[in-house]
Amino acid sequence: MEDFKTELVLVLLLAVISVGFGATDPNDLAILNEFRKGLENPELLKWPPNDNDPCGNKWPSVFCDGSRVSQIQVQGFGLKGPLPQYFNQLSMLSNIGLQNNEFSGPLPSFSGLKNLRYAFLNYNNFTSVPADFFTGLNSLEVLALDGNNLNGSSGWMFPPALSNSAQLTNLTCMSCNLVGPLPDFLGSMSSLSVLSLSDNRLTGGIPASFKGMILTRLWLNNQVGGGMTGSIDVVTTMTSLNSLWLHGNQFSGTIPDNIGDLSLLQDLNLNGNEFVGLIPKSLGDMSLSHLDLNNNKFMGPIPKFKASKVSYSSNLFCQTQAGVACAPQVMALIEFLGAMGYPLRLVSAWTGNDPCQGPWLGLNCRSGDVSVINLPKFSLNGTLSPSLANLISLSEIRLQNNNLSGSIPSNWTGLKSLTLLDFSGNNISPPVPQFSSTVKLVTVGNPLLGGKQSPSSPTSGTGGLSPPDTRSSSTTDPGSNSGNGIGPTSNRSKASIIVSTVVPVVSVVVVAFLAIPLSIYLCKKKKRNEQAPSSLVIHPRDPSDPNNLVKIVVANNTNNSTSTATESGSASRNNSGLGGSHVIESGNLVISVQVIRNVTNNFSSENELGRGGFGVVYGGELEDGTKIAVKRMESGVITSKALDEFQSEIAVLSKVRHRHLVSLLGYSIAGNERLLIYEYMSEGALSKHLFHWKTFKLEPLSWKRRLTIALDVARGMEYLHSLAHQSFIHRDLKSSNILLDDDFRAKVSDFGLVKLAPDGERSVVTRLAGTFGYLAPEYAVTGKLTTKADVFSFGVVLMELLTGLMALDEDRSEECQHLAAWFWHIKSDKEKLMAAVDPTLGCKEDISETICRIAELAGHCTAREPTQRPDMGYAVNVLAPLVEKWKPIDDDTEEFSGIDYSLPLNQMVKGWQESEGSDFSCVDLQDSKGSIPSRPTGFADSFTSVDGR
Ligand SMILES: *[C@@H]1O[C@H](CO)[C@@H](O)[C@H](O)[C@H]1NC(C)=O
Ligand SMILES: *[C@@H]1O[C@H](CO)[C@@H](O)[C@H](O)[C@H]1NC(C)=O
Ligand SMILES: *[C@@H]1O[C@H](CO)[C@@H](O)[C@H](O)[C@H]1NC(C)=O
Ligand SMILES: *[C@@H]1O[C@H](CO)[C@@H](O)[C@H](O)[C@H]1NC(C)=O
Ligand SMILES: *[C@@H]1O[C@H](CO)[C@@H](O)[C@H](O)[C@H]1NC(C)=O
Repeated sequence: MEDFKTELVLVLLLAVISVGFGATDPNDLAILNEFRKGLENPELLKWPPNDNDPCGNKWPSVFCDGSRVSQIQVQGFGLKGPLPQYFNQLSMLSNIGLQNNEFSGPLPSFSGLKNLRYAFLNYNNFTSVPADFFTGLNSLEVLALDGNNLNGSSGWMFPPALSNSAQLTNLTCMSCNLVGPLPDFLGSMSSLSVLSLSDNRLTGGIPASFKGMILTRLWLNNQVGGGMTGSIDVVTTMTSLNSLWLHGNQFSGTIPDNIGDLSLLQDLNLNGNEFVGLIPKSLGDMSLSHLDLNNNKFMGPIPKFKASKVSYSSNLFCQTQAGVACAPQVMALIEFLGAMGYPLRLVSAWTGNDPCQGPWLGLNCRSGDVSVINLPKFSLNGTLSPSLANLISLSEIRLQNNNLSGSIPSNWTGLKSLTLLDFSGNNISPPVPQFSSTVKLVTVGNPLLGGKQSPSSPTSGTGGLSPPDTRSSSTTDPGSNSGNGIGPTSNRSKASIIVSTVVPVVSVVVVAFLAIPLSIYLCKKKKRNEQAPSSLVIHPRDPSDPNNLVKIVVANNTNNSTSTATESGSASRNNSGLGGSHVIESGNLVISVQVIRNVTNNFSSENELGRGGFGVVYGGELEDGTKIAVKRMESGVITSKALDEFQSEIAVLSKVRHRHLVSLLGYSIAGNERLLIYEYMSEGALSKHLFHWKTFKLEPLSWKRRLTIALDVARGMEYLHSLAHQSFIHRDLKSSNILLDDDFRAKVSDFGLVKLAPDGERSVVTRLAGTFGYLAPEYAVTGKLTTKADVFSFGVVLMELLTGLMALDEDRSEECQHLAAWFWHIKSDKEKLMAAVDPTLGCKEDISETICRIAELAGHCTAREPTQRPDMGYAVNVLAPLVEKWKPIDDDTEEFSGIDYSLPLNQMVKGWQESEGSDFSCVDLQDSKGSIPSRPTGFADSFTSVDGR
């Protein structure tokens, strides 16, 4: 008993002493114990079980300042469980390292931790941050929240209280489920040096408040669900920047010219945005260690970069080689686009280094020079570039009914061939330079020039659209009342002449002239829209987007009103929270995989449209009536390598857009599901119409249709081959990959095998792909692949069109099994050739001439030596005049009348000219007499079905 008492006294005494000499604050001890108690696996802490003095006895991972806990450092322990509710009572805490564990549940409030300087909470499973978390964190220097899925499906935003942490230097919240725009207050956090917010769901622009920030690192890359938008001009004021990552967003506009002001920048990544325009010289001159410009819409020449590691593929450069200038015409046109803010529609169409080749929308050429610029109603804004003065062959500039402002450049008067300048319905301001009298200048509907309203809205003028005419000019048309100008009605009734006298100027206003082509244009447009699943375009996506969504942007030509949102009843298991919401921004229709399942009746066999090498294609119709075709990859065939290819291919495909290539509308890579969404082509594959028309109870294709199809395919392939500075090889062109729409216009599909062609003439050795019967010999034998392999396949397709015979049919006799080989034997003999022609075409005299030409073209295209095959441009040039010739006179003339602005008319004109100079006839074909002029036996049903054969 006595002993016990002395022991007790001793213990108490010791306890008193130890408190006095640094024993742990009991409140801190209580919180630590609570912390330990809440964990599922507290043993990992190795805290002594029955010890009450973490500070005195130096518990592992706990650091103290006297009796107060100042640090807890448990990174990477694998700890599971929540933090205690009153965590902020560890009020002397200055440094907490909880990163790389599995702490879960809501974060407790940190409010009042006025000594806290470092908070590493990253890579845990915290689910939310309480509203008062940041109150009073006045000393906070580093906050890391990365890798926590904060605030569930709604996502998380930085609360304004964060701005009180004025010492904050490092703020990282990558993959932490941030949503919404970046808050302005971040820009006022003057100590902030590192801001890493990659892989979230941020939207909107870089706030103007970021101007002059001293950031060394700004990472905003890979925002899911669309990403950040707007220009990046403000970054050039952040002159401390060392690393700027903006990839995987939708930033737009040009790279600012003064990007070179960022003299400390080492690493610049702009991959996968919507940047346009020329690469500024100052960027080329920057000694970066890493520069990534891939997957944008940069134009013009590729500078010789000083950066040590640089990549810039998938852009719209005019050349493939760095340091090579563009053709002067191309530069003049790019500058013209630049002054108008690089309108995307033209940016995408004006690719390559020859405006007289390929899909240069709105241009016509004469003798290889641009002669007409025809861009009415293109919603062009911005100003007119003096650079057009360098296009010396320009005869007509038609820019009516846009929103152009500024004045007409004075050096345009040097355009000697100019006959027509039409600016009606814009907002051009004086002075108007003095053009020669041979130039017809149409300026009506430019309020600042004293004209009246736009001719397309002649009665809308009184609503304050135009300032009083007296402001800048006086009209002196003798036939009209002066002062208030000419009324719209008098303008309409007859062509009248206004001489405006701002500067000595003659403006000729020809209203009647305008009214006609304009109305045809509008009428045509409308017609096209009505039947247009093809008005769907893919919105280029970041292919690494893990989001369980198929994104489809419905291009709405009238304005950007949003299409109907489709209710999905989403059962998708995505955790990004977009499952239930469809419209994320105006104009963008976001459709979940669930919707795709619904419209295809859960990929039912009834909806099956066809099967290909990679999977099954299903048809479906969205609620708004848009028809789509969904290609579902067989999950079994997908290796991780195939997956990589799939994703990189999507990145490529989303850039490829042409009216004769089937558009990829969207895709999904969610889970095991690999879906590609295409526009729906109602008439299906060409092969069906050529070989199986009887089975499907179809009309056999007329010769005229076949020619048009051949031309469409040639155009699509030409585009693919000459896309921007890159070239793509389809590798599997065949009649079952050529799809027809309800007008029997053709589009090439199935780019699953498309490979980027190498620069120049070199070939790539790839693993063999494609379909026998269409394979070019050199590719089949050596695997060497050039665009000429596609030309070969195209030649085989021409033969199929001519003969109605399948490229390869093992049911035919041996010498005829391969259509290409057999065709080579008979093509040079007119009699045999005519006998080989598809009997459904009849042997009308009037088509025999074109048949000879097609046969000859097919022969050239299938020449044994790739170098002897023409390129697709040649095929287009041969076919275009034939198609035009074959247009019945009574047909609706719009299609080839030259006012279809989306047709590369210049190609047609060129084709005409060239064909006139050359003579194709069967007589010129190489001769091989001898065998019987007969068709091989036992082929496709098209042949056997015809009477009399
Ligand atoms: C924490 O999150 C990771 C990654 O999201 C997950 O694998 C893990 O199962 C989660 N742990 C807990 C305890 O929820
Ligand atoms: C967290 O989500 C809720 C809705 O679930 C929302 O009201 C709140 O604003 C979000 N909090 C933050 C900080 O973003
Ligand atoms: C802030 O971030 C930078 C860049 O990651 C890093 O080098 C630095 O060590 C960080 N500062 C602190 C205190 O963690
Ligand atoms: C042109 O119009 C677009 C879209 O309306 C707008 O974003 C852009 O800022 C305008 N550009 C100019 C130069 O006014
Ligand atoms: C027209 O003006 C622009 C810019 O002032 C200049 O670059 C260009 O050379 C001029 N062209 C002609 C033909 O005068």
